[in-house]
Amino acid sequence: MSETTFNVIGVASDAALRAEFAADLRAGFGMPKKQIPSRYFYDAMGSDLFVQIMKMDSYYPTDCETEIFQNRAKELLKTLDRKTSIALVDLGAGDGSKTKLLLSELVDQDFDLTYVPVDISKDALVTLSEKLRPALPTTPIQCVVGVYVDALTALSEDRPAEQLLTLFLGSNIGNFPPEGTVRFLARVRHTMKKGDRMIVGFDLKKDPEIIERAYDDSEGITAAFNLNLLRRINREFHANFDLEAFTHHALYNPHTGAAESFLVSLKEQVVEIQDLEMSVRFEAFEAIQTECSYKYTPEDVRRYAASTGFEVETVVTDSRGYFADAVWVAV
Ligand code: AVI
Repeated sequence: MSETTFNVIGVASDAALRAEFAADLRAGFGMPKKQIPSRYFYDAMGSDLFVQIMKMDSYYPTDCETEIFQNRAKELLKTLDRKTSIALVDLGAGDGSKTKLLLSELVDQDFDLTYVPVDISKDALVTLSEKLRPALPTTPIQCVVGVYVDALTALSEDRPAEQLLTLFLGSNIGNFPPEGTVRFLARVRHTMKKGDRMIVGFDLKKDPEIIERAYDDSEGITAAFNLNLLRRINREFHANFDLEAFTHHALYNPHTGAAESFLVSLKEQVVEIQDLEMSVRFEAFEAIQTECSYKYTPEDVRRYAASTGFEVETVVTDSRGYFADAVWVAV
């Protein structure tokens, strides 16, 4: 059995993370159009609810990407250099079921492989590595606890002789606004050497009804996921949001190209956030924007690559043409 290791890189303290959350709440509730960044969805309950979302039939991105990895992994991996060992760096592996398909293909093709999942939560990495270990008995798993760009910087310094293949799957890129996307990809490129590669998942533009069903399911799982943000603020900042007094609202805006999610106040109300010494006033039907999930055209995929120092090598879509995984090489 091969080894599993854990390396912690520059993780902020709980106090610093809380201060950042507090600052984002103050700023977001102070805006004329209230908003909270979607990264705060993922407390323990939010992460569980997201796993449930990924299993829903209406949330197509997971099924599409699984289909791509099941049927077309060879195509995605065909440009890798067979003579050089490879570090598969996984940014946000989730439960690892999609990555497992790529890992198995790399093992079958006899690559000299190390799997390097990166996550801010050590618990998530322990669960992931225990789940993947039986399928990868001989592959070293080197978990990195940290934020993505810091982890990538350290990895590229530690592994100059290996080819890096970085995964950013499942439409995670879509939660950045367009200018944030360019900033993030350029920073990632900066950590890479020429010839390193990245596989990025892009949710493609499609019939708005299909997108809206994915973000407003009939079972109410996405609504629970969205409302859980208020529960988290109640718990962590001693606030008194009444979850019954807000409703989940999601729509696809074809002009911005984003599925936009809101929590709408069902009445005029004032919410107290004790720890922030803040009263937040809501008009009836005023909204807090909680998420944007951008969708892309194949041209967007090429444009983002070209503007951030990459070249598109391969693009593979699922059979319905809903989702694309693109292999980019650093140039
Ligand atoms: C994590 N992220 C890619 C998901 C998305 O599709 O934007 C989060 C999500 N929000 C509602 N459903 C899923």
